[in-house]
Amino acid sequence: MIEVCNITKRYGHLTAIDRVTFRVEKGEVLAFLGPNGAGKTTTMRILTSFIPATEGTAHVAGFDCAEQPHEVKKRIGYLPETPPVYQELTVAEYLGFVGKLRGLSGTGLTQALERVTERLSLGTVRQRLIANLSRGYRQRVGLAQALIHDPPVLILDEPTVGLDPKQIIEIRELIKSLAGSHSVILSTHILPEATAVCQRVVIINGGRIVAEDTPDQLSARLRKSEKISVTLKAPPINVAERFREVPGVEHVLTTADPHTVLIECALGRDIREDVARVAVGQNWGLLEMKPVSMTLEDVFLKLTQREDEPPKSNDTTPGEHH
Ligand SMILES: Nc1ncnc2c1ncn2[C@@H]1O[C@H](COP(=O)(O)OP(=O)(O)OP(=O)(O)O)[C@@H](O)[C@H]1O
Ligand SMILES: [Mg+2]
Repeated sequence: MIEVCNITKRYGHLTAIDRVTFRVEKGEVLAFLGPNGAGKTTTMRILTSFIPATEGTAHVAGFDCAEQPHEVKKRIGYLPETPPVYQELTVAEYLGFVGKLRGLSGTGLTQALERVTERLSLGTVRQRLIANLSRGYRQRVGLAQALIHDPPVLILDEPTVGLDPKQIIEIRELIKSLAGSHSVILSTHILPEATAVCQRVVIINGGRIVAEDTPDQLSARLRKSEKISVTLKAPPINVAERFREVPGVEHVLTTADPHTVLIECALGRDIREDVARVAVGQNWGLLEMKPVSMTLEDVFLKLTQREDEPPKSNDTTPGEHH
């Protein structure tokens, strides 16, 4: 349904995206995960025919995004980073206006308005001015305008940003309900968001795709080890060495705080009891022990390392020194 082949976008000397390639099948929800400036919005704007790529091609439903913008736009519902809502219109006026722009009229328009109003629970704010709506409702109006012509493809740029937890769940449910019948790309910089609603995740960093996988496989790839943070009141001078002797411990890292160390063990192995027994038995004053979850920065580091590693090792495993 969506086919992106080697697209590059340059702004002067700056390469915003660099040879990006991916596909989205019919009915699939794909997450575009990346930090600020990664190139998510740039890619989406090329797909929606708003800007041309410098190199490469993009197709939506078989139409070329650069050559056939009209055909592409007809088939896409787009929620930009800042929803293009007109403050001085009421919700009903605005959605009616968008519907007409999309070529709807008469009963077709009325039915479309009823459908999106119900789907996004906008009934109670129909007659309110958009300027007076809360952030969450404005985002829902933005989604309603993307859905009004019932497009087969939806491109949603950070659809849950700025929403409260209840609204986030509602929007995620809505996106899930679109899966199967629609092809959806959504962008986010939050890992759990990507894994919650999508069948596939493309991770982009510095304009390049660094990984592409299903949420399950991605977590498996990333969670090769588990980390716990241990804080001691009176750590011995050789604390790292001492913890390294505990069965199952693979690495011990010291931190900026002299009382806290990070202990790494193999995935699926729980070493907390053993670590606690040693700390308590030695009277080190165990103050705290907690699992450390991976941040997005860790994810990128791991993924970029992994991609760089095979060529370096040249397919031979160097001997391990203990
Ligand atoms: N019109 C433009 N002119 C010059 N540089 C631009 C333009 N649009 C984007 N860029 C640059 O391209 C890079 C990618 O930007 P983009 O907006 O695609 O990132 P993003 O992943 O959407 O980030 P965010 O999470 O902050 O929305 C950034 O370095 C940005 O400064
Ligand atoms: Mg963006």
